[in-house]
Amino acid sequence: AERTYIMVKPDGVQRGLVGNIIGRFEGRGFKLIALKLVHATPEHLEKHYEDLEGKPFFPGLIKYMAAGPVVAMVWEGLDAVKTGRAMLGATNPLASAPGTIRGDFALAVGRNICHGSDSVENAEKEIKLWFPEGTVQYTHDLAGWIFE
Ligand code: GTP
Ligand code: MG
Repeated sequence: AERTYIMVKPDGVQRGLVGNIIGRFEGRGFKLIALKLVHATPEHLEKHYEDLEGKPFFPGLIKYMAAGPVVAMVWEGLDAVKTGRAMLGATNPLASAPGTIRGDFALAVGRNICHGSDSVENAEKEIKLWFPEGTVQYTHDLAGWIFE
């Protein structure tokens, strides 16, 4: 199954949106296969955003992302990368539709509360970067958890 790297950024953690964001991915039917709270170093974040190095907003982006802990997650399921991006909304929250995470909770592009991988290839790269220890294997068998 396809996997994507989803991260609640420091502003999302500070604003108490972790549960809401996790709930959306759970509710949609995706399977959580890795999760941790981590205060990332600037060096680690520069690797995560290496494609954006040289952009005028890059130093501010690293400072923002290093300002507090983030919630790092891997979600698995049908079309996880594209669906995850759709659930986040547009990069600029002002262009994000209501009903998306950014469209419901954010206004500024530099404080857009969540990250999602933009391609299957980048998802695999990001999962290795944030979870070198690997993800968790288990069967997502709902019936056994609802009925005895
Ligand atoms: P991520 O999921 O965080 O990777 O966002 P994205 O894929 O929608 O956008 P992109 O990878 O192009 O940019 C990464 C992050 O840099 C964005 O989420 C913003 O937080 C920030 N960013 C992008 N463009 C701008 C900009 O023009 N100004 C500022 N201040 N921040 C920007
Ligand atoms: Mg991106």
